[in-house]
Amino acid sequence: MRIALATQASKSGDIIQFFTKEESKPRELSAAEFDGNRFSTALLRDGKNRILCVGLGDKKTITADTLRKASGVAFRSLEKIGSTRAAIDLKNYESYAQQITEGALRASYRYEDFLPEKSRRKTKIETLSLIGNQKGNAKFKKMIRTGEIIGKAINAARTIGNQPPNVISPATLATAIVKEIRGKGYRSRVWNKKALERDGFRAILAVGSGSANDPRFITLEPLRKIRSAPTVAIVGKAISFDSGGLSLKPAGSMEDMKFDKLGGCAALGIALAVAELGLPINLHVAIPSAENTPGEGAYRPGDLLRTWDGQTIEVLNTDAEGRVVLADALAYACKTWKPDIVINLATLTGACVVALGEERAGLFTNDDALAQGLSSAGDSSGERVWRLPHGEEFDAAIRSDVALVKNTGGRWGGASTAATFLSHWITAPKWAHLDIAGPGHTPKGKAWIEAGATGFGVGVVVDYLRSLSS
Ligand code: BES
Ligand code: MN
Ligand code: ZN
Repeated sequence: MRIALATQASKSGDIIQFFTKEESKPRELSAAEFDGNRFSTALLRDGKNRILCVGLGDKKTITADTLRKASGVAFRSLEKIGSTRAAIDLKNYESYAQQITEGALRASYRYEDFLPEKSRRKTKIETLSLIGNQKGNAKFKKMIRTGEIIGKAINAARTIGNQPPNVISPATLATAIVKEIRGKGYRSRVWNKKALERDGFRAILAVGSGSANDPRFITLEPLRKIRSAPTVAIVGKAISFDSGGLSLKPAGSMEDMKFDKLGGCAALGIALAVAELGLPINLHVAIPSAENTPGEGAYRPGDLLRTWDGQTIEVLNTDAEGRVVLADALAYACKTWKPDIVINLATLTGACVVALGEERAGLFTNDDALAQGLSSAGDSSGERVWRLPHGEEFDAAIRSDVALVKNTGGRWGGASTAATFLSHWITAPKWAHLDIAGPGHTPKGKAWIEAGATGFGVGVVVDYLRSLSS
């Protein structure tokens, strides 16, 4: 999709206009037809042109995310009725140009690789014009460019995230990531099984040992270091499919487990956006990837593992595999790169979804300023997070008689015991863990986004990283 700036609506195709609940509406529409309620829509015809009115709701409660979503709702409504050229009237909302652009891009994404021809979308919006008075204004252009970069990075994460587990294995994930990131200023490295054995990534190997699809470890390092900039490590869990392993999941819980790679997908999206935005950050990425299946050679409950840094894990449940692969990756990232900040993203626990629902990610961190920064980035990006506790009070639950820790913590506080487990592999001063098991994918979709992977994590982390240099 091409994004263009325009100063007037003529010849720009169908037009999107935003209305608050309080504002006066086009007189052609009765109050019953269009009331301005949040995300309500109504279509007007003006000669050849069509005007789509979109409600923003109560003026007092409008946030940047309201515009992001309203833009997505409008975009999807227009595509549904065959629009190929659309324009958004930014009137009154020019300061939200970034979010409006991002919302449209997110709404333009479809995953149709395996759909029969007849079910695929016939037309799509090829050109989106943004109508405002600031066409020549550099700051305005930059807002739109930022929205475009973030929207595209989110969609890149979704594209890989939605691929089925027979297409994306650890090996093909590594290939896809290397391909996506080429030319963006990173050096990528991929460890295959032999290299993982040589370098002692025993935890990643253990989780992948039951599968015919060998595990991989993928890292991205900046080609050029910026002396004065902070070093940040992003670590993303990428289980290409999580059957639970020998501690097999019931069928119903296994259906969506191709989405267990979304932490790694988000990490890729973050790396793309940071590069395109040119943020002054030395960004490093580590993505441990394995397929967790109960095949020949599979790791077992009772196994004792020694991770990359020599610490030990007692495996009690092979379905708690995310923390196991992350132990190797977090240790490697901390010891090799000595980052100022580590942020890891993982579809780690069902318990986090029980606690917070499907919209919010759990946030665990050892640093109050980082908590504050990620919370406000969550609000501004529309990818909201909620802080939960971890640490000493949960140590008893994961205490092991035969290793440093065991990989399950019993019935209570499952998201917190998992985070506490991870903390044992952190040696960086500042660390945050985002449990994205809930918001990583949307099973039914929303008016502003189609069903499947959401790209959650890209928006909040990129907004946080942008805040470091503003
Ligand atoms: N990938 C799952 C977590 C998950 C659950 C993600 C639901 C998305 C939706 C993770 O590997 C897992 O299986 N966790 C177990 C941990 C338990 C065995 C301690 C869980 O949450 O049940
Ligand atoms: Mn699992
Ligand atoms: Zn998992």
